[in-house]
Amino acid sequence: MTERKRLVAGNWKMNGLRADGRALARDVAARAREPHRCELLVCPPATLLETVGEALAGSDVALGGQDCHSEPKGAFTGCISAEMLRDAGCMYAIVGHSERRHTCGETDRDVRAKTLAAWRAGLVAIVCVGETRAEREAGRAETVVESQLLGSVPENATAGDLIVAYEPVWAIGTGLTPTMADVTEMHAAIRARIPAGARILYGGSVNPKNAAEILALNEVDGALVGGASLKAEDFWAIAYACR
Ligand code: PGA
Repeated sequence: MTERKRLVAGNWKMNGLRADGRALARDVAARAREPHRCELLVCPPATLLETVGEALAGSDVALGGQDCHSEPKGAFTGCISAEMLRDAGCMYAIVGHSERRHTCGETDRDVRAKTLAAWRAGLVAIVCVGETRAEREAGRAETVVESQLLGSVPENATAGDLIVAYEPVWAIGTGLTPTMADVTEMHAAIRARIPAGARILYGGSVNPKNAAEILALNEVDGALVGGASLKAEDFWAIAYACR
């Protein structure tokens, strides 16, 4: 069986001015000089890609973008293409994050187009899926996630160009997390629907306290970290929990 190397990815969301971004990235890069057992990735806002890319140069911390447009270029005010992310030094793009699905009305079809765009530009797509609180309470969590996968992940995905992030919407930024049994069950359901060897990250209130338990699960190939990725110490503590 192919070994799935764990990945700890920081999603900085809409946080950071240049000075903060540079300092945080330098701190992460410095800590990453210590031995670690996972791949590391940070996804800053687009305005910081260049600054953060410079701060990470020479480290093994990769750079990723948050979201991309499906088209390579054109009259799309405010949007950024996958090619632009790649040009700015990115190797990954987060697509289908619930904050975009829910606040920007993105559909599975949009996410699928963005995934294809990421591949076109040579990026690995991190496709986010996850149910709302109401959907979980109604016993529909798995059905919802399966249908998001079906609609968002193109058929020709490979283990090399696809990472799925399971992020229950109700766990994002709330301090709540599913039980370890629920995470295991969902990851196994996802695994049955994606190419063999593709990695599945858990995301939603991962912090230095719960990381070891979550990352110890066989089905969990890493974490997508929001709030806790804004403090190098916490981000590193999560990465360090990959043992
Ligand atoms: P959180 O965010 O770690 O702050 O819950 C995770 C995410 O939205 O990717």
